Order: sequence, then structure tokens, then C-alpha cells
Amino acid sequence: MFVRIYSIIFFFILIIFLSSCSVSQKGRKQIDFNKGWRFILSDLPDAQRVTVDDRGWRTINVPHDWSIEGAFDEKNPAGVGGGALPGGTGWYRKTFSISADEKERLHFIAFDGVYRNSEVWINGHYLGKRPNGYIAFQYDITPYVNVGKTENVIAVKVDNSQQPNSRWYSGSGIYRKVRLFSTHKIRIPQWGTYISTPKVAKEAATVVIKTNVENSLPEDKPITLTTIFRDANKNIIHSAVTNGVIPKDSTMQFTQQMSVADPALWSVEHPQLYTAVSSIQVNGKVTDTYETTFGIRYFDFDSQKGFSLNGEFLKIKGACMHHDLGCLGAAVNLRAIERQMEIMKGMGVNAIRTSHNPPATELLEVCDRLGILVMDEAFDMWKKKKSQFDYHLAWDQWHKRDLSDQILRDRNHPSVFAWSIGNEIGEQWGADSSGIIIAKELAAIVRSLDPTRPVTTANNEVKPTNQIIASGALDLIGYNYNHKTFENFKNDYPGQKFIAAEATSALETRGHYDMPSDSIRVWPISWDKLFLEGNKDNTVSAYDNVHTPWGTSHEETWKIIKRNDFLSGMFIWTGFDYIGEPTPYVWPSRSSYFGVVDLAGFPKDVYYMYQSEWTKKPVLHIFPHWNWKENQVVDVWAYSNTDEVELFLNDKSLGIKKKQGEALHLMWRIPFSPGTLRAVARSDGKEILTKEIKTASKPAKVILEADRSALRANCDDLSFVTAKIVDDQGNLIPDADNLVTFHLKGNGFIAGVDNGNPVSHESFKGNTRMAFHGLCLAVIQGNDEGTLELKASSEGLESATVVIRVE
Ligand code: GAL
Repeated sequence: MFVRIYSIIFFFILIIFLSSCSVSQKGRKQIDFNKGWRFILSDLPDAQRVTVDDRGWRTINVPHDWSIEGAFDEKNPAGVGGGALPGGTGWYRKTFSISADEKERLHFIAFDGVYRNSEVWINGHYLGKRPNGYIAFQYDITPYVNVGKTENVIAVKVDNSQQPNSRWYSGSGIYRKVRLFSTHKIRIPQWGTYISTPKVAKEAATVVIKTNVENSLPEDKPITLTTIFRDANKNIIHSAVTNGVIPKDSTMQFTQQMSVADPALWSVEHPQLYTAVSSIQVNGKVTDTYETTFGIRYFDFDSQKGFSLNGEFLKIKGACMHHDLGCLGAAVNLRAIERQMEIMKGMGVNAIRTSHNPPATELLEVCDRLGILVMDEAFDMWKKKKSQFDYHLAWDQWHKRDLSDQILRDRNHPSVFAWSIGNEIGEQWGADSSGIIIAKELAAIVRSLDPTRPVTTANNEVKPTNQIIASGALDLIGYNYNHKTFENFKNDYPGQKFIAAEATSALETRGHYDMPSDSIRVWPISWDKLFLEGNKDNTVSAYDNVHTPWGTSHEETWKIIKRNDFLSGMFIWTGFDYIGEPTPYVWPSRSSYFGVVDLAGFPKDVYYMYQSEWTKKPVLHIFPHWNWKENQVVDVWAYSNTDEVELFLNDKSLGIKKKQGEALHLMWRIPFSPGTLRAVARSDGKEILTKEIKTASKPAKVILEADRSALRANCDDLSFVTAKIVDDQGNLIPDADNLVTFHLKGNGFIAGVDNGNPVSHESFKGNTRMAFHGLCLAVIQGNDEGTLELKASSEGLESATVVIRVE
């Protein structure tokens, strides 16, 4: 009895002690390794040598993408498909010291991603190479590190010279974060926890955590592993204590389990998160602590009823995203990712497909937090190439390791709900059986590390002869395009589960309208006719009526998905425009037209079609602008989820319209006369929303709108400031292309400028930008605390200033 009371008291003291450690991650020391690198864009021989004088190199911070700093040129070897920006080979070096009292510890350098073919040295010793540009990796630098007064030099060679190696813009360099950290010799190794929730119900859930503990000492060691589970309010909800003896120089796995009553389930509306704080003790001293964020949820794909999350059916309303962040290039920035996801969520998106590579870990953190499901994709090709120098060259040596590392890194994220082992893989076709063999091999790798999520691929060959589907290795069959075959799927593959892994490939230029709007244009007709047809001004009409031959309008695919329960959902190609792949054009276009949102983050009109269908908030959006020639026939479209919309021109009603059948928009065809176009949306006879567009006169001023007027200091936080060219009444000038100059005062800098124009060859890194259909963007980054003042001026126009606090 006494023993029991003592052990309970001990247990509570332990909990209090460990909880007071909070985020300090006792036992681990991490230093910010992202600032103050030296960089040179040159294929220097042997720049890893300690004696190399790098004082003349640029000083930069990572994440860093050197390609985005370059000039557009169709002759750049990445080609227009890769964004027409330069590649090349670059070197990064960083000098640092480690205090003498760190002597007995282990030291590591971790890279979240380097594009591509990185090779790393410390103090001249070779640590290794990673060809895959999207994979996270770390090196144990303990044997080569100097402690005390002698400095250390990390050198990283990045070789992105062999191009094309990607079908989209990749970026070049150390474009994700780097960490330098040290640990005790008894520790939790990289990606050392795995949390699963084998039983989840509304009343109770079982959470299982497997924890690896590594002992690098030359003797066996008894340890105590304590795991404390906290809810979102940091309340401790459970603890588990396990003892064990770890043999010298080895790793052991411990399994602990807890039952949570009334679990706060992770969902897209309420993304509730929990934290597990694992702590290792040896002889009563904490040697390591390690935090894992997780969620409790369950989901299912049903071949008849589609996808359900926590027992409720949920259509997957997804968007594919490439990894670039517009004018910031590939260089990862948490706020830029968060902004993209907020804009997507605002349209009703509840899922992202990380086409076609492992994402930045920040994306998964944001999706965990915002409640966005993630289809986490590994590869765009296997052994059969898509471009001359792509990953097929590294396939044999690296695919097992890369895929395993991706699963190990990402499997605790509650947002991740499917593993895609490939996009439009060449092995779907062909007489050899490599598609079957590789699909089985990859699916087995995934299942050995995480059997809790379905394995899928995004297929564009939908015939039963598709080797990957025929392999039987998939849990979920993904189709890209081929919308006409969706409804046959149930017959072709009885009992199988379906997702439209990629759909639409519709095309739009924000703010550009060709009339009439009620016929569908398929463009390009064929690849050899790319660019030879039609508009030579490299624009595509923004009515949702232009798409690639393999694609559809946005409305067409969504209607099919909406009316069939067994179709679990769709991923639009794409949420945002991305750099590269400017189909249906080639040069001088250099970025895509596929996005529902343009490269600068300004929504195109069709954003509101989805919003009217995918969200519950009342929506009314009318377009185009109201500056046309007198009597020109103009098609006015409205997206709304109200019962009816009435349109007025200069207070005269042009009629009430209601959507009929499956219709997703309303249209009025009217002759133009200047003035005010007003739409009134009503439900149950009540006015819900009103929108007005006025004929704009002449450009008179620039106005600025910052998405955030207060930034956090010292954490790469950003404010996205939109500049609008307006007339003296504040009406947007729809065709304005005035050159805007930005001046920033204070302790910060302009991280990028853009306007969403796929044809602009202006630098993303300057302080000037032409407006495009009236808008452009400056991205402001703050350093230390203080006040930033951004002024935007343009010749002949009244200028504007916005103040941003950094706190
Ligand atoms: C798909 C492909 C995407 C993109 C898209 C353009 O076939 O998976 O990566 O190229 O076409 O329409």
C-alpha cells in the first residue's frame, strides 16, 4: 500500500518536473543555423577545403533560392517548362564554433531540403550526397567536429546544372531550413517516434506511441522513458513510464499506450492537436526530450459512399500545389505557406496534394493547424524518365531510402491521409512488367512504415492494362483527368475506391476576358500547335471556358464529382499558379495559367465558383469589370449560393436569375453603357448580399492594402501588401499597367514583388513592378522590432504609404 502511495507521489513529482521543462527540449541544444552563410554561384573546385578564403562570397541567410534571383531567358537550360530561370552550381559555407563543454555530446546537421545533388563536408571531411532535391536529411558530424577555440566549417555543394531535370520550376540551393544541434549519447534519434491511433470513437481513443531510444555509449544503460501527453491547452492528460536496458551502441524501440476519454478529434473544421513529450532519463537525469505533435482522427474510403472523416462523409475538395511561393521562389517561408493555405481554405479547399514531391515540413505543420488534409506525394517518375536529367538517374540507388525517409518524417501528421507513390508514372504502360514490380515494392515500403493510410498513385492511363493498377498494390485508385471515365469506374473496378487525384487543367489569366463566354475552348489543340493558334498576347480568358485537351472547365469536373457519392473527391490542377509550365503558351510566358489563384496570390474569378459551392458562407461575385466600348455586348457572370440574383445597370433591372439544374453560374448578356453594375443576391426573399462594379475613369492614385499590419520580430514574418491603381473615386482601373515603385523605411526589406502576370520578365527581387490588370504586390519582411513604412509611388499618380509594426 505504502509503496503504491509513494510511487503515485513520485509519479506526480515527475510530471511536475517534466512539465516545467516545457519546450526547452532538455538534453538537446539547437542553434539557429539559417543565418550568415557565405554563398557563391560557381562550380569552384574543392571549395570544401577549410583553407578556402570565402570572405569575398555573398553573405546570405537560408532558406535561399538562387534561381529566383536570376533573369528570365528562354535559353536557360531549365527551359520554359522549368520557369526559364537559371540553374547552375553553387557553394555554401558556414563557420561556427562549439563550446568546450559540448565535447562529450553528439553533434548533427539537419537539412530540410536542398535542390539538388547536395554534397556536404565538415572541416574537409565528406559527409555524403543526396541527389533528391525534396528530401530531408541529416549527418552525424561528431567524429569531425572541433570543440573549443578551433572553428568548424560546413561546406555544401549544390549542383543543379544538369537541366532539364523537372517539369516545373524547382528552385536551386539550400531552399529549406537547416538546424545544427547536439544531444546526449542516449537520445531519441531522427524521426524517432511513431504515433498511431488504432481505435478511435467519439467516447474514447487508444493512442500508441513507439519510441526509438539510441545508446551510443560503449556500455549497456538502464533508462526510463516517460511520455507525457498534452491536449491543445497544454493540460497533461496522460503519462506513461517505461524502463528498459539499452545495450551498448544500439537502438531499442519502446511501445507505450494510452486511452483518451472524450478525445478532441482532429477534423477540417476543428483541427485539434495533441503533443507527446518524450523524455529519457538515465540515473534520474534527463538526457533527452523530444516533442511530437499528433491528432486523433479516423477516416475511411468507401467504394460506394466515398470518403468519411470521423464517421462523417466529406467530399474531398482538394487542390494540387507545386512548392514555389511565387516571387519568393522555392525558398521556404512559413508565413508565405500559411497565406497560401489560408487563401485555399477561404475558397473551401479541405485537401492539398503535394504535387509531385515531398513537401516542406512547414506545409504539413500549417495543414495540421488549419485543418487541411494532405495527399503526400513522393515521385513524378520512377525508373522511366520524363526529362533528360530527372530523378530516374538516381532511382536505383536512392528510391528506397528517399521514400522511407519521407514516410518516417511525415507519418505523425494528422493532416496526411494518403501516400501517393507517384504521378503519371511511365511504368503504367509498356510490355515489361516493371510497373507491377515497382508498385508492389513501393507500396510495401510504405506499409512497413505506416500501415494506417492508403497507398495511391495518380494515373492517367485508366485502362485495365495499366500495370500499376493491375499490380493490386494500391488501396485507393487515383485518376488524373479522364473525367468521361469516372462514372464507369464502379463497373471497371468493382469494389475499388476512387479519387480524382488531378482534374481540370483549366486555364485563366486574371482580369482578362474574351467574349462570348458561353463556348468552351480547348487549347492547345495539340502539342505541335502549341502557341500557333489564337491570341498572340499570351493571355487566356478568365471566364471558366478554356481548358487543355486532357482537362475540363472547373465546372465540368466538379459537377461529376458532386453528383456521384462514390467519387471521394477531386484535386484541382492547381490551387495557385506556379512558375514554369505556361501551357497553352511557350516563351515569352514563363509561369502557369492553371491556378484558381494567380502567382501573386490574387484570386481569379473562378475562385468564387468554388467558394459558392465549397463553403457555407453566403457568396456573391460578379464579373467582368465595367469598362467596355459603348454598346459592346458583354457577358456578365455571377457566382452565388443564394436563391437568386438580380442585376441592375444604372438602377435599371436586367432581370432576376436563378441557377437551373446543375448550373454553377448565372449569366446576363447585355450591351455596355458606362455607370454602375449592381447585383443583389437574395434567399427566401431576403437581400443577402450586394455587389457593385463601376466604370472607372482615369488612373489617379495608388492605394495600398497590407494583409497584416503587425509582424512578429526575428522570425521571417511577412506582410503581403497589395497595390491597386484606382481612379479618383477609388475604382480599380481594370487594364492599368502603371509602373509602381516601392520604398521601404525601417528595419526590414522587400522580399519580393509580383503582379501575377505569367508573361512579365521583371525581376521578382526588385522594388518596382508594373501593375497587371490594376494590381501588384510587395512582400515585406521585418527584422527586429520597430516600424516599417512602405511607400508606393507611380508617375503621375498620388502615392500611398502603409505602416507595418514589427513586435
Ligand atoms: C498533368 C501533370 C501535371 C501537369 C498538368 C498540366 O498531366 O500531372 O504535373 O503537367 O498535367 O495540365
